[in-house]
Amino acid sequence: MFLKLLIWFLLIRYASSEGDADFIYNGFHGANLSMDGAAKITSEGVLLLTQSTHQKGHAFYPIRLPFKPSNGKVQSFSTNFVFAIVLQYPNVSSFGAAFVISPSKEFPQGELGNYLGIFNPNNVGNSTNHIAAIELDTYLNPEYDDINDNHIGIDINGLKSISSAPASYFGNMSGGFKNLSLISGEQMHLWVDYNGDQNQLNVTLSPINVPKPDRPLLSSTVNLSSILLDDIYVGFSSSTRTAPVYHYILGWSFKMNGQAQALDLSRLPKLPRMGPKKKSKLLIIGLPVIVVFFTFTVISAVGLFVRSKIKFAEVLEDWEHEFGPHRFSYKDLFMATKGFKDSELLGVGGFGRVYRGVLPVSRLEVAVKRISHESRQGMREFISEIVSLGRLRHRNLVQLLGYCRRKRELLLVYDFMPNGSLDRFLFDHPNSMLSWNQRFRIIKGVALGLLYLHEEWEQLVLHRDIKASNVLLDNEMNGRLGDFGLARLYDHGTDPQTTHMVGTFGYLAPELTRRGKATTSTDVFAFGAFLLEVACGRRPIDPRSSMEEEMLVEWVSECWRRGKILEAADRKMGQEYNEEQMELVLKLGLLCSHPVAAERPSMRQVMQFLDRDACLPDLSSDGLGAAILSHHKGSDDIHLSYPSSFELGFPNSSSIEGSVLSGGR
Ligand SMILES: *[C@@H]1O[C@H](CO)[C@@H](O)[C@H](O)[C@H]1NC(C)=O
Ligand SMILES: *[C@@H]1O[C@H](CO)[C@@H](O)[C@H](O)[C@H]1NC(C)=O
Repeated sequence: MFLKLLIWFLLIRYASSEGDADFIYNGFHGANLSMDGAAKITSEGVLLLTQSTHQKGHAFYPIRLPFKPSNGKVQSFSTNFVFAIVLQYPNVSSFGAAFVISPSKEFPQGELGNYLGIFNPNNVGNSTNHIAAIELDTYLNPEYDDINDNHIGIDINGLKSISSAPASYFGNMSGGFKNLSLISGEQMHLWVDYNGDQNQLNVTLSPINVPKPDRPLLSSTVNLSSILLDDIYVGFSSSTRTAPVYHYILGWSFKMNGQAQALDLSRLPKLPRMGPKKKSKLLIIGLPVIVVFFTFTVISAVGLFVRSKIKFAEVLEDWEHEFGPHRFSYKDLFMATKGFKDSELLGVGGFGRVYRGVLPVSRLEVAVKRISHESRQGMREFISEIVSLGRLRHRNLVQLLGYCRRKRELLLVYDFMPNGSLDRFLFDHPNSMLSWNQRFRIIKGVALGLLYLHEEWEQLVLHRDIKASNVLLDNEMNGRLGDFGLARLYDHGTDPQTTHMVGTFGYLAPELTRRGKATTSTDVFAFGAFLLEVACGRRPIDPRSSMEEEMLVEWVSECWRRGKILEAADRKMGQEYNEEQMELVLKLGLLCSHPVAAERPSMRQVMQFLDRDACLPDLSSDGLGAAILSHHKGSDDIHLSYPSSFELGFPNSSSIEGSVLSGGR
C-alpha cells in the first residue's frame, strides 16, 4: 500500500499554487483511480475499461476537481489521452467509450450499450445530469442522430451530440483530413481543450505516431460553466452489450487552467501481447490458414509420397528375399543414372538400353542395363540364375553386381567399363585404332573368360551371344565378356516347347539355325567369328563389301586357299602386326567356325593354341576352306532368307545388329 501511494505521488503532481489539478499517467501502473464495473489495470499497466459482453466500466480520477472556484475566475482545462479499441471478432462492433466530465464518479443507473454506462432511458438528455462527454462512437444509432458508426462527438447531458465528425485527423502536410477507423485496434491520441474565456471546446484526434494536428477535428462553442457544476470528476466510461470489445486507455494527462503535459509515448505500456486481437486473428484468420496450409501440405506430401512410390515402384516377391543382397532399389538406380537420362546412355545393346550411373552412397560407377520384359513366367529361375551368375568372378568377365525388378522391366547392374565396347574401336573409330598387341591380348582375355564359363566354374554357362559388341574394355584395355547368360531370359520367357534361337546373325552356328540348341560348340563358332572380326577389322557379314568379301569367313578361307591368308588382315594396320600371331588367329578363327560342330576345338584347346602350348591341327587349307565354302555357299539361301528379327526370337529390332538387318535385305 505504501509503495502504491509512493508511485502514485511520483506519477501525479499537483500544480498546487491555486489548487489546480495537473496529473499525468504514462501508463497506469500503480495508479490510484476510482474504478468500477469491468474496469481494471492490466499487468502491462494498461487501463482496460471493458472486454467482454454486457459490461460497463468506469475509471475516474479519484479526486474532485474545482471547476468553478470561489474566486469566480473562468476555468479552462486541457487533457489528452491515448486509447485503442480492439474488437474480439473482426467487424463485430459495439458501442464506444467516452471521456466524461461529471458531478459524480459513480453511475449505478448507467446502462449498457449506447448509454455508454453513464445514462439511462430516464435521464438521458436531462439537463439535471450536468455531464459533458467526448464520445468515441463505434455504433450508428439513428435514435441519437449518429452520423455513422465511426465518429467522435461532443455530448452534453445525453447522447445526441451537439457536434460530431467522422473519425479523422488533419494532416499538417497535406492540408486535409484523413480518415481513421476507431475499431482498427490501432492506438490513437485524443486531445480535449476547453477555453473558458472563449467558451471554445476543441477535440483533436490523430494516430499515435502523428503529432497533434494544427487543426482540431471538432471545434464547438459551448459554455460548459452553465452545464457543469462547481466541482467535477473526470474519467472514462465504456460499455458493451452483445459484442465483446476491448476498450483500452494507455496514457492520460490532464491540467486545469493550462496546457496538459505531453504524454511520453515511449513510456506508454504495450497493448497486451497475448491479447484478444492476436487470439482472435489466430482463431479467425490464422487457424483456418494454418489448417488449410497444413491440409495442403499433408495432401501434397501424401501425393508426392504416392507419386514417388509409383515412380519408384518395384516388383518384389517372397522368393526374392534370399537374393536380397543382390537386389538394388529402383530409386538408387534412378538417382544413379539421373533418371535414365539420355546423356547417360552408353548404348543400345542386344537386350536393352545401357546407362552409366554413379550409385548414391558408394559413389561406385556402374552400368545399368534396362531390359523390358513382359513375362513373369520363369522369372524366378532367371533371377536365381542371374544371381548365381553374379557369383562368377573372372577378370575377363564384366562383373554383374545385382538386379532390380519392376513391372515389365528388369534392371541389371554391372561394373562400369570405362572404355566401352570393342566394336567401337574395330569399326566405328578407325582413327583410334587398336594395335595388334592390344588385339591379341583382348582375344586371349575373351578366350580365358569363355573358358571359365565353359569349364572352370562350378556349372556350365553358355554365353550364346559372343561378338565384338559384347566385349567390353576395362581401363587397362583388357577384354571382358559381358551379357553372359542373358539370352536365357528369352528362353524362360517363352513356351518351353518351342525353342527360340538367340544370338546374332553371322555368329550363329549352322546347327543352331537348324536345331536351335545352344552348346559350347555354338559358343565356339561365334568365338571364331569374333576372332576373324578382330583380326580383319570387319564384321562377319559386311554388305558394303564386294560380293566375294561380303561373308567374312568365306573370304578368309578363300584367301587361305589361295595361300595368302595374311591378305585378310585388317588393312588399317598396314604391316604393323605379328605375322605368326595373325596367321594363328585367322586359322583358329576358321577352325572355330567350322561348319561341323565336332570339328571345332574346345575353349581349352583354343587357349592351348593361343598360348602356343599346342599346334593347330594340320588342316589342309583345301579341306577346311572347301568345307566352309561348300557349306556356306550351300546355305546362303537359308541364312539370307531370315527376313526379320522375329523368327530369330529377338524381342525387338534393336537387339539385332546392323549386319543382320542388312543381311536380310
Ligand atoms: C429531469 O430529471 C429530474 C430529476 O431527476 C426530473 O425531476 C425531471 O422530471 C426530469 N426531466 C425530464 C424532462 O425528464
Ligand atoms: C472518410 O470518411 C467519410 C465518412 O465515412 C467518407 O464520406 C469519406 O469519403 C472518407 N474519405 C476517404 C478519403 O476515404
